Order: sequence, then structure tokens, then C-alpha cells
Amino acid sequence: MSHDTRANKQFRSQEWFDNPNNPGMTALYLERYLNQAFTREELQAGKPIIGIANSGSDLSPCNKIHVFLMDRIKAGIRDAGGIPMEFPVHPIFENAKRPTAALDRNLAYLGLVELLYGYPIDAVVMTTGCDKTTPSQLMAACTMDIPAIGLNGGPMLDGHWKGKLVGSGTVIWESRRLLADGKIGWDEFMDRACASAPSLGHCNSMGTASTMNAMAEALGMTLTGNSAIPAPFQERMGMAYKTGQRIVEMAYADLKPSDILTRESFENAIRVCSAIGGSTNAPPHLQAIARHAGIEFDVKDWETVGYDIPLIVNMQPAGEYLGEAFYRAGGVPAVMAELNGAGKLHADVMTATGKTMGENLDGVEVTDRRVIFAYDKPMREKAGFLVLSGNLFDSALMKSSVISDDFRDRFLKDGVYEARAIVFEGPEDYHERINDPALNIDETCMLFIRNVGCVGYPGSAEVVNMQPPDAMIRAGINHMPTVGDGRQSGTSESPSVLNASPEAIVGGGLAYLNTGDMVRLDINTSSMNALVDAAEWEARKAAWSPPVIESHTPWQEIYRQHVGQLAQGGCLELATAYQRVAKNLPRD
Ligand code: FES
Ligand code: MG
Repeated sequence: MSHDTRANKQFRSQEWFDNPNNPGMTALYLERYLNQAFTREELQAGKPIIGIANSGSDLSPCNKIHVFLMDRIKAGIRDAGGIPMEFPVHPIFENAKRPTAALDRNLAYLGLVELLYGYPIDAVVMTTGCDKTTPSQLMAACTMDIPAIGLNGGPMLDGHWKGKLVGSGTVIWESRRLLADGKIGWDEFMDRACASAPSLGHCNSMGTASTMNAMAEALGMTLTGNSAIPAPFQERMGMAYKTGQRIVEMAYADLKPSDILTRESFENAIRVCSAIGGSTNAPPHLQAIARHAGIEFDVKDWETVGYDIPLIVNMQPAGEYLGEAFYRAGGVPAVMAELNGAGKLHADVMTATGKTMGENLDGVEVTDRRVIFAYDKPMREKAGFLVLSGNLFDSALMKSSVISDDFRDRFLKDGVYEARAIVFEGPEDYHERINDPALNIDETCMLFIRNVGCVGYPGSAEVVNMQPPDAMIRAGINHMPTVGDGRQSGTSESPSVLNASPEAIVGGGLAYLNTGDMVRLDINTSSMNALVDAAEWEARKAAWSPPVIESHTPWQEIYRQHVGQLAQGGCLELATAYQRVAKNLPRD
């Protein structure tokens, strides 16, 4: 960037800090920022003000590393000629926010849009990590449309327990089965879980956090190699510094999300998601980002664009390894280089580096084939999501990369499974009745859970990965087919049918299913139907009225009134009408 280009650049922050047409307001805006050690000269020097959206706090341990990365981000911004201004974003911690962290994604989004719009911010560093912290900030950057770059905090170091790798979340699902089976007690359960979290950082398995950061990188919204560097590594600090430097160049070049995000970049992200064995939470989050960016994108695209892509990353829950090995094997750039070599990438899309994705990947190679397989010698063929439909829902996802051979043999012979439905009204009902002998649950059954979607829970809960009754686990059956209108943890290895849309509480087909009905899943035709006579089905519909649910906070009520369905991204529907809002300056 030549000096001249910089000298001519006008930033929106100058409307606050350096507006001779309005000395009164300029003085008001300016004076109070001086009391925290900014000077009048620097704020009126025509340099870009770079917001740093800090998602780290004591409430968000997965993102806490960002508190310590701030100095490096700011140093990078300063050294490149920008002025950093750090501010907090609404914290989100996936595992601890009740009733759901999903409820808070749109709240963090709204808050960040308002901050970026209403303050003198010319460009922004989004500090990502824990599941929803990544999409919420990307969604806000799209709505605002100022230069924006993602910086992941990085995964935790690998967890170990008695000489074995123990991955985030995955260890919980395994341990609760061991507990149900009587093989471990409460203390060992807790110890195993705690061993999976040995350092600062987000989940170290390929859960939603690692997936969504891979998605941010695959979309071109971060520097190359950003997503996989473990939080405590020196390279993470280097990445923070370089990201700070780069956003200043992006501000001068006015390189915005609308210059980077296209239909093609989303197709790249879908394929990366299949190749890494990514989380079933990626589809609603990507859908939400696409909608706020104004890009045509449909849940069915996950199957048409992504299903045929093989699984090439050997990482839990679909495989063996954790974040350190993935990083050392080359991380997301190495995966993208494999896809590119197979002709499965749009290489000419623009990215935050100012170069195309293809240019970013030049010379990138896989450095450990135990962890990242070759595209033509994959861990598993056709590893993307199936997008099912039928009379129970318009769409629901099934993650094929976690369907084990045992599960396939037991439940999906020839891809078809007919089963007796056992219907639960939510997780409380499930816990109360799953071991009830009267339900007679066995291998000829399919477990359903409803009223756990966006409107129902509220926020769509990660509860679809229901475990079989204890007696079946003791008999060695760890998974049975489960279906629901909620989500499941990205760290779960359950081959569930989930994210069913529309959800039962707004009148989706799951609402009319009864325990004892026969249901047919056919993965050859991507369909699932209740085998109930059409007249009977219509009669149930006519007799149905939605269960009454109470909101317990004001936000729950606002959220429920405005949220859409998971297939459409679970957005605040009214918010999707606001696009590229930075084009209008706010009144003073
Ligand atoms: Fe925060 Fe997994 S719970 S990253
Ligand atoms: Mg989760």
C-alpha cells in the first residue's frame, strides 16, 4: 500500500473525531477518549480506528485466551498505523449458558452490530473461539459490512487420561455410557472430563468450535492457518500480531465482507466441513452468515455440494486425534490444498489476505498422513451431511462421517430402517422415561425428541444425541437412531437425525407423531416418514394445538417472537432485512 493511497483515505471515524462542520459534537466525541491515554493528535490524524471485539472473559473460558492476546493484536495494529480500541462483546460459553447458548448467538450478534454501527469504528478484529462466538461475530460483520477479520483463540492442548487421548465433549459422551454401564463412578467421570481441558483454549476435538473456526478460514475471513493453532502455542501470539497488522491494511484497502463472501466461498466452506468431519451446527451457522451477507444458500446445498466429499481428517469425534496433531499436520490450509488438488475448491475467491484462496494455498502441504489423509485415499468416502425430508419435517440433517460400521450393520442395512417410534417431549421427559420397562425399547425402535428447537426450548438445545436405555448399553449397543428438532453437540459421534425444521412447536410434522407409530428412514432417497395413514395424519393435525411455553426473561420472549427455523439459520428474521448498514452514517 503506497503512502499516497493512505493519505487520501477518509474513514467513517473522522465523522466523530475530526468534523470541522460540527465542532460541538466533535469536541464531545473527542474529549473523553483522551482520558484513557489517546491523544487529540492521533485521533485526528486520519488513521483508521480498529475495533477489537473481545469475546474473552471469566464467563467464557474457551475464549479467555483473547484477554492475553489483546496486547499482541494492538501491537500489530499500532505497528501498521492504526488505532486499536478494544471493547467487550456479550460472552457466550457453550457448556454453561442455560437454557442454551444458542439463545445468545443472536443477542451477541445484535449487540455487536449496534456497537460497530454506533461508535467510531472503521474496521474490526473478531476474536472467535467457542461455538457461537464465531458465527455471531461473522454475522454482525456481514450486516455492518466494514473491513473485518477473524482471529481464533485456538483449541486447548490435547487432553490425556491414563495414557489415552481424551477429547473435549467426546470424553463426556463416552464416560456417561461407562457410568450407565456401571464401569466408572462419579469421581472418575469428573476426573476424565477435567483431564480433557488441560490449558486455555476452546474444545480440542473437531466439535463446533474447531469446525466454525475452520469455516471462518475456509470462507476467507481470516489469515491463512489461523484456525488450528493451539491457544498456548507461540504461533498463536504471532497470529494475533499479524492479524492486527493485516486489518489496518484491509481498512485502507476497504476490503469488506461483501468483497470476500460469495456463493463460491460458501461452497468451499461446505466442502471443508465434510473433509474435516465437521459439526452438525455448521449448517445453521453458515446459513445465518449467508443470509446476513445476502447470499443465496439453502440447507439442501449441504447435500448437493458437500455429501460426496470424503472425510480426510482423522480427528475426534469422527477419528482419533485432537487439535495439536491437526495443527502439526497442516491444519485447514492443508485440508484445503487437498481439496484444491482434487478440483473441489473455488481457488479464485478473494480472502482477507488480499490474495485469492489459491494464492494463499500455494506451496501448502500435508505434513502428517496419519492425521490428514490424501483426498483419493480418505478415511471414509461420501462423508458430508444428508439432508432428509418427508412428512415429519421439511429438512433434517444426518452426519454421515460418524456412522460407524456397527451402526450401519445394525440399523441401516441397505440404507433403510423401519422402526417403532418412541417420542419424548423434551430432555426431562427423556430422562424420566428412557429406562421405563413399559416402553419396551429395543433395536426395533427409534427415539424422538421434540419441542427442543429454536422457539421450543428456547434456542435449540443440544439434546438429540440421546443414549439408549441402560440395559441396551450393557448389552453393547451404544447408539440407536435418534431424531429431533433440536441440535446435538459437535463433539458427539451419534449418527442422529437432527435440526428438524420446522420444529414441532410451530406445527412441524414431528408434532403429530405418537409413540408406537412406525417410521421409515431411507438414506438412499434422503427421506424419513411416519408410516401413518394420510387421513389419520390430517386428523391429528386438525386436533393439534401447540404446547404452552413460558418465557423466563425478556430476551427469551423477544427471541421467540422473531427467530426463524434452523434450516434458515435460526436468525432473527427481521434482522436479515438490514444489510450493509455501514453505508448509512448514524445521526449525531
Ligand atoms: Fe466452548 Fe467447546 S464448549 S469451545
Ligand atoms: Mg456445542
